[in-house]
Amino acid sequence: MEVERVQAIASLSILKDTLPPEFIRSEYEQPGITTFTGPVPDIPVIDLSKRELREELMQEIRNASEEWGIFQVVNHGIPEKVIKELQSVGKEFFELPLDEKEKYAVKPGSFEGYGTKLQKEPEGKKAWVDYLFHNVWPPSRVNHDIWPQNPPSYREANEEYAKHLIRVVDDLLEILSEGLGLEKQVLKESVGGDGLEYLLKINYYPKCPRPDLALGVVAHTDMSAITILVPNEVPGLQVFKDDHWFDAKYVPNALVVHIGDQIEILSNGKYKSVLHRTTVNKDKVRMSWPVFCSPPEETVVGPLKQLVNDDNPPKFKTKKYKDYQYCKLNKLPQ
Ligand code: SIN
Ligand code: FE2
Repeated sequence: MEVERVQAIASLSILKDTLPPEFIRSEYEQPGITTFTGPVPDIPVIDLSKRELREELMQEIRNASEEWGIFQVVNHGIPEKVIKELQSVGKEFFELPLDEKEKYAVKPGSFEGYGTKLQKEPEGKKAWVDYLFHNVWPPSRVNHDIWPQNPPSYREANEEYAKHLIRVVDDLLEILSEGLGLEKQVLKESVGGDGLEYLLKINYYPKCPRPDLALGVVAHTDMSAITILVPNEVPGLQVFKDDHWFDAKYVPNALVVHIGDQIEILSNGKYKSVLHRTTVNKDKVRMSWPVFCSPPEETVVGPLKQLVNDDNPPKFKTKKYKDYQYCKLNKLPQ
């Protein structure tokens, strides 16, 4: 089956200065109409180097996870060079000719590879984005055959980033655990311990002739436990809070941390899985590198028993992650 990549459509649309109708959102979704234009509250920015002030750091992360379900972290310890390399090899891959990238096209039965769409949308509308998916950790889940061979340093750059990222995620899970009044190892153990799976997605949002009418990624919450994202310098992430869509500010060298559905469930709703979407840009290509950290598929996830009682009954069902994933991808009730 021939798939039209958005990157190919975009190069034609920019020339003609029109947006093909399948990308025009309903007025309930169009960013030109639905983006909040008043004073915008900033997503919390948290300085992770405040190690000696552990209690304060814990409170900031807890508040952000309760109120927003998203925050940005700075001074996270991942060297700037490592992030720049990750971005530069990803950009180089997407700048290869289309037929080069098609060698990595997603194959039936797999979700890893180069592609254009994962979820079906009810109104048949299309998202203005192409992507590349592949696991980066643990080694037993990594298939290097589907990692780009070009540029040649792709593998090294991604392995180096993953190595640093694991440490940040371990730290965050400990702090989030303590924020719930639990022993620090509890959350990580509940999402599969060292079996926690790291899936990288690279989003490539081509220039778009009508960014007021289109969306990159449509509104969703992440089904992961936690997602850590590196953006390029082109803003586009929007977060839904207090009934409004707010633009997230680009903070140089920050990592964007999304609380995913599995941590919302484990915390019995105390931490929020953030509703978010992305807009696109007329003059610049936007890219982002989220890593979805998710439990292995057989892991059973439900509200932690330490957090439920007669006054605070479970708000979510307990089920295997693979069953949660199946329902979410097929838009079935959980
Ligand atoms: C996503 O939620 O999948 C993408 C977010 C982003 O590009 O900032
Ligand atoms: Fe997301």
